[in-house]
Amino acid sequence: MWDAETARRDFPVLQQTVRGRPLVYLDNAATSQKPAEVIQTVCEYYGTCNANVHRAFHYLAEEATRRYEDVRRRAATFFGAATPREVVFTRGTTESINLVAWGWGRKFLRPDDAIVLTEMEHHSNLVPWQLIAAATGARLRFVPVTPEGTLDLDALDRLLADGRVRMVAVTHASNVLGTVNPVAEIARRAHRAGALCLVDGAQSAPHLPISVRDLDCDFYACSGHKMYGPTGVGLLIGRTPILEAMNPFMGGGEMIDRVELEHSTWAEIPHKFEAGTPNISAVIGLGAAIAYLERADRAAILAWEEHLTDAALQALAALPGVRLFGSAPQRLGVISFTVDGVHPHDLAQFLDGEGIAIRAGHLCCQPLMRRLGVPAVSRASLALYNMPADLDRLVAAIGRARTYFCHGT
Ligand code: ALA
Repeated sequence: MWDAETARRDFPVLQQTVRGRPLVYLDNAATSQKPAEVIQTVCEYYGTCNANVHRAFHYLAEEATRRYEDVRRRAATFFGAATPREVVFTRGTTESINLVAWGWGRKFLRPDDAIVLTEMEHHSNLVPWQLIAAATGARLRFVPVTPEGTLDLDALDRLLADGRVRMVAVTHASNVLGTVNPVAEIARRAHRAGALCLVDGAQSAPHLPISVRDLDCDFYACSGHKMYGPTGVGLLIGRTPILEAMNPFMGGGEMIDRVELEHSTWAEIPHKFEAGTPNISAVIGLGAAIAYLERADRAAILAWEEHLTDAALQALAALPGVRLFGSAPQRLGVISFTVDGVHPHDLAQFLDGEGIAIRAGHLCCQPLMRRLGVPAVSRASLALYNMPADLDRLVAAIGRARTYFCHGT
């Protein structure tokens, strides 16, 4: 069994009290905490070898470049990419998806082509496609969410049937419902219809072992900061021929081959997509986060998180006035709920008063909130360091909040 109690000691931020109580951190779907070795790696990089990468011939620059490219190799292996050339460093999931929308969509989408999204996407996998649809004349289509919080795959087939769809972009796991979508199957259906498939892995990368080869998707996007790494770094993993055919997303230093005054040619992938000085320290910190996960027993972590999730769902369902969202058979430790008579923002503030951190609001998913018929929810989301005691404190505090706000009703 996963030893969360021991793992928890690796995370300095969790060792503090907040508002006079030991911190309970349950906002991991927004960002996870960082183990000491990630923090130390970033500090050590700045203290020993800070330099710009790929552009100088001195010792520090060579060392920084070596470490930076080592992380690319490590990420390629971790995510099952065919080659490190298929791994692009970005600022995060949002930038990765924008990169595909503009680098691929601007070049290849035509008026009346279609892009299929789903009703459960967060804004990062909606808005970039809205912008590129407006720029190209492509149309957006949406796979509906069922009452259980899964995707209606029959509807997907109907949306794909006319052969106009060029891209299916879908989240691997919902940041509201916790649902793990059958993305390998979705990619298969997209390909059969002549479309590409982008998988938004923002929520899945921290929890599920990922092989882009097994998923057989064309693009996989994720963020370092949700997988125990630093903020400001993410990944886009894409298939070589598609990345090679795409236009650059941003222009600037290091993404070029030859620059004339009027025009330029581009560097090989992945550098074609990494304009300007990258977030070198964050990339190197991400390497330490991946190393941390590589050493951990990820199957045991997943089983632990599933066990905690089941227990939390049961305990919350037993509380009067609590409504839970999402009951997909395959789900992550993302638990969204409302409490009758208590606004989610008020609940989050009340819990904060007891040293418990959750997220409340529309969770960057306004269309899904409308589909669920609520303006906002509260969300507790788990990570490898959460313990049953964290959830006991959450559940007890929600009970107290209801009494406080509803005057005992
Ligand atoms: N998408 C992130 C969340 O769900 C920010 O909190």
